[in-house]
Amino acid sequence: MARKTLEDLFIHALSDMYSAEKQLTKALGKLSRAATNEQLSQAFETHLQETHGQVERIDQVVEKCGIRLKRMKCAAMEGLIEEGEELIDEIEKGPVLDAGLIGAAQKVEHYEIASYGTLCALAKQLGRQEAVTLLKETLEEEKATDKKLTEFAEKVGNPQAKNG
Ligand SMILES: [Fe+2]
Repeated sequence: MARKTLEDLFIHALSDMYSAEKQLTKALGKLSRAATNEQLSQAFETHLQETHGQVERIDQVVEKCGIRLKRMKCAAMEGLIEEGEELIDEIEKGPVLDAGLIGAAQKVEHYEIASYGTLCALAKQLGRQEAVTLLKETLEEEKATDKKLTEFAEKVGNPQAKNG
């Protein structure tokens, strides 16, 4: 389907995020197992649960808007996950890897924050108020996760990585 209208653009962006979230549900378990710090590992697990909820929220948006998603693979998320996997392959398990994983996870969160921000704006412009509400909930979750990761990196992750 060619993207001709704002609605087409919205459906395309939503389909992209659906793929992104699905890919992430598979990757977060790997990140959690790779993390040494229990608190960090738990944060990845918590976000895995949230991500399942975010997939469901997209399903709800689809239902409320009466649209059909396109089958596609989010190339950006694929690349971000690949970078995280490279870290796991290259760095020995421990605080330095943990610091790297935090950075990789934050790149994912920032991509998602940008994407959900766009989706909210498009849904608003299209007059899809119920979709805006749902997408905003996810946007706030992503922001909260990002903030949690920043705090963890500053207080625990990076100092531990520096001191060994
Ligand atoms: Fe997400």
